[in-house]
This record gives sequence, C-alpha cells and structure tokens, in this order.
Amino acid sequence: TQTLTFLGLESSCDDTAAAVVRQCGTAPAEILSSVVFGQTELHSAFGGVVPEIAARAHAEKLDTCVRDALVQADLTLDDLDAVAVTAGPGLIGGVLSGVMCAKGIAVAKGLPLIGVNHLVGHALTPRLTDGIDYPYLMLLVSGGHCQYLIARGPEDFTRLGGTIDDAPGEAFDKTARLLGLPQPGGPSVQAAAKLGDPDRFKFPRPLLNRPDCNLSFSGLKTALMRMRDQIVAEQGGLTRKDRADLCAGFQSAVVDTLIKKTERALTLYLAESPRNPTLAVAGGVAANTAIREGLMTLCAQLETDFLAPPLALCTDNAAMIAYAGIERFRAGARDGMALSARPRWPL
Ligand code: KG4
Ligand code: ZN
Repeated sequence: TQTLTFLGLESSCDDTAAAVVRQCGTAPAEILSSVVFGQTELHSAFGGVVPEIAARAHAEKLDTCVRDALVQADLTLDDLDAVAVTAGPGLIGGVLSGVMCAKGIAVAKGLPLIGVNHLVGHALTPRLTDGIDYPYLMLLVSGGHCQYLIARGPEDFTRLGGTIDDAPGEAFDKTARLLGLPQPGGPSVQAAAKLGDPDRFKFPRPLLNRPDCNLSFSGLKTALMRMRDQIVAEQGGLTRKDRADLCAGFQSAVVDTLIKKTERALTLYLAESPRNPTLAVAGGVAANTAIREGLMTLCAQLETDFLAPPLALCTDNAAMIAYAGIERFRAGARDGMALSARPRWPL
C-alpha cells in the first residue's frame, strides 16, 4: 500500500517529455502531469529526425519540461520518491541527455534512479490507462517500431514477431514524401486514401503466406515508387485522383498485412491464455481509423477485448516511463549512477 510519486523523463526520439505519476498501493495510477515538447519543426526541412539536432534540443528543453511537469502537478522535487528515465533504445544523443538529467536530479535529491526500456513504457501503457491485469497481447505500431508482445509482468515479455525492415509509420511517412504530401505522413495519407480506389493499383502483401508473426513494409515503398514513376512517364505528372488511388492501395495493403498477422499472433496468444482475451495497441499508427476498425472487427470475431489508450498516451510521452518505473521499482529494480544509455535494447 506504499504510495509512490515518480518523475519520468523521455528523450529517445524527437519528443522531449517529463511527467509525474502517482500510485497508491494497488489503486489505479494517476497522471499528475504530462508535458511533451515535439521537435517536428526542427527536423521538417531535413525529411527525417536529425540525431545531432535532436540531442541538442533535448538537452536544452529537459529542464523546462521537468519544471513544467512539477508545476502542473503542484509539487517540488522534494515530493518525489524516485526518477525514472528512458535508457534506450533510441537515438543515443537524446537518450544520454535524458539519462544525464535524471542522474543530476537523483544525486541532488538523493533519490533512487530507475532506467526504463522505451518499449516497456509503451507496452505497460494499457495498465496505466485502464489498470488491466497481466497477461495481455500487445501490438506496438509506431514510426519506429512494429512488434507483437505478450506482456506477463514488468520484466517479462515474449516477442511473437515484428517487422523485419521498416515500421508501418515509417512506410506512411515515406509514402507521403514520395507523393508530395505533408509530414507526418500517416494523417495525410489516410485523408487522401479516403477519396481513393484501393483496387486500382495492386500492392504486394509481403510475408502474408508465411506462418509466423513477422511483417515487412519496405517493399510497399518500392512498389509505390515504380507505380508513381510509370504514371509520371505516361502523363507527365500525378493528378489528385492518382494520389488518392495510390494512397488507398498502399493503406489497404498495410491494413491487410497488419490484420492478418494480428490474427495469427492473437490465435497463438489465446491458445495459451484463453482466460485473458485482451489485445492492446500503442504507437502513433494506432490512430489510423482503417487499422483501428480492422483490429476491432478481428477482436469481435475472436471474442477478445480491444484496448486502445488515448492517443496522447499511445505516442511518445513520459507518463508511460514514470509508470513503468513504478512497476519496476515495486518489482525490486534499482539502477544507480552506473545506469548507461543504450542505443539498442531488445526486450
Ligand atoms: O508513436 P509515434 O508518435 O512516434 C514514434 O514513432 O515513436 O508515431 C508516429 C508515427 C508517424 O510515422 C506517423 O506518420 C504515424 O505514427 N501516424 C499514422 C497516423 N497518425 C500518425 N500512421 C497512419 N495513420 C495515421 N492516422
Ligand atoms: Zn515510442
């Protein structure tokens, strides 16, 4: 029944974030504040996240983020029980900025320091938002990740499969770039796809006939480039209709692949845990309506609960890091000043 108040820090990609989360015993955790500074404008001219620019911006913004998170929670550093920080995987400069900031606070205030795997933060989000019990099946779909995980405990995950190349969000972003649509690509491709004919262009469905839970999205980009170049060669340019049809064909290939592989992962999961039929999603791509509807239909067919946390907690944030820190702390984890930043950190 111990009450824990944790500060969380996140800086592994292009969002600088700080949050305060409190949990009294086994009661549902409470997000006292969650501050996120996006860096999208800093990188927009470069067509992707520039690691050097990201690291510098994190280093500059972390202090402000921490201050704002404490002010919004109406607390000071003296009210904290520990500091949790993303220690990887991610862009190493950014991760280092966060780890150093967390170490500074921990040393200054004599607080325990807990390193959190960014993926664990995403994977535990449905427990933070909905208090669900272990085990459950997790689908992580973002700009950087795509994997199926069975979550059994804060340090106990089984990976059933994932992408062997690009993440789906990356594929949406590249598609937008190839068609001259605005970034981030997910929302703009989804909007264009609504007006398009998904059957005009035949996109591949890679790995669909393999019996595993692995996915591949890089072939879609190559196919799209070929189709685009052919239209341009024939007509001298793309019409609005061409763009819409290309987006619709691309999105329907992504949806088909994701739904089919999720069905496989869910069937495997349900065979071992028939009494905990829950599929949860996290990651920015979970915002896609076609993907969401496909997953909901699949879950209804397999009599499984479908759980999608609010979007602000699906994308990168520090509340999930603070919460994962609380769970790890309760499980006995403590990281001292030897905590290191890790660019790669598989579950
Ligand atoms: O989780 P997230 O905010 O950041 C990380 O990648 O960690 O996810 C961002 C990704 C971007 O690639 C963006 O294009 C994609 O999520 N996304 C979408 C949609 N909204 C955002 N993809 C498809 N459909 C959407 N509606
Ligand atoms: Zn993430």
